[in-house]
Amino acid sequence: MKETKIIKAEPSNLNENEIMPAAEIIASGGLCVFPTETVYGLGANASDPLAVAKIFEAKGRPQDNPLIVHIWKYEQLFDLVTEVPEKAGVLAEHFWGGPLTMIFKRSEKVPAVVSAGLDTVAVRLPSHPVANALIKLSGVPIAAPSANLSGKPSPTSFKHAAEDMTGRADAIIDGGNSFFGIESTVIDMTEDVPTILRPGAITPADIKELIGEVYLGKGNSGAPKSPGMKYKHYAPRAPLYIVESENPVEIINSRTKEKTGVINFGYDNSDFKAEYVFNMGKTASEYAANIFYALREFDDSDTEEIYAIPPKDDGVGIAVRNRIYKSAGGKVI
Ligand code: TXA
Ligand code: MG
Repeated sequence: MKETKIIKAEPSNLNENEIMPAAEIIASGGLCVFPTETVYGLGANASDPLAVAKIFEAKGRPQDNPLIVHIWKYEQLFDLVTEVPEKAGVLAEHFWGGPLTMIFKRSEKVPAVVSAGLDTVAVRLPSHPVANALIKLSGVPIAAPSANLSGKPSPTSFKHAAEDMTGRADAIIDGGNSFFGIESTVIDMTEDVPTILRPGAITPADIKELIGEVYLGKGNSGAPKSPGMKYKHYAPRAPLYIVESENPVEIINSRTKEKTGVINFGYDNSDFKAEYVFNMGKTASEYAANIFYALREFDDSDTEEIYAIPPKDDGVGIAVRNRIYKSAGGKVI
């Protein structure tokens, strides 16, 4: 176990000097957890293969699951990729900095370990002031997956990032809660018609409006192109059931026992008989901001089973449904 330095930073009133020790850790090959607008990331110098290898070790991440490289200004992209397709330029102009990750052909300057040996590389320019200051001050692009132990929900608060990474990272920046609460939209830009590999806050409709046709989930080959998609993710300790049948509230109430929990998307808490009802808010963006936090809180409670009625399948709701379905691992009633 290493000693983990805690560094406080206030995103709305950032003093960059406070981030300097974290930037020095990145520049000298260490690991630093930092807040982004989506979820907390576990960062290392993307151009240092030994530093990047430490990320896989600290998370217990499978070696074949590639990482996202984070930049703070657009010009950094040209060092990382061999070509920037026109449509990618358009998306960058509209959605960077922000929760969009694009996949490009990888330049030889990016060590293979970053991309788990693939000939592509995922790149994102965040909008979070702390993340961007860290990348700028460290002077290098930062490779970073979500800062959870492999198989746990992505951390959206300092508390949850510290739970997983204390003793594993050299530093953790406490920048409060993430703004969106689910990970970035991942889109593969290497083919003529791009493919959304992971839904997020930037929706298929947002993207189509700018660049026309996009595929969802699987490319035209039908095979999943994102190695991360084959792993079971975000599983809470208690079994989670998705309720899609008619009269879902009645069904949940009829199954409710002493230690039943409900992840409540948009109903009144009083509609449910269960003792633990975690209210996700009223809009899809609120659902996104709360979902991982709720899953982690259930893990800390003695809940024995969890039910959720998923939100509508449009806009940001698409991404929320994607995460809740993954957490349930196929248990739908
Ligand atoms: O919002 C986010 O994207 C957060 C913050 C920290 O930026 N990061 C994040 O990273 O969620 P991670 O590693 O947990 O998820 C990255 C996903 C994985 O599913 C991975 O397989 C996929 O992106 N990915 C990365 N590089 C890829 C590549 N070259 N080709 C296909 N998929 C890739
Ligand atoms: Mg992750």
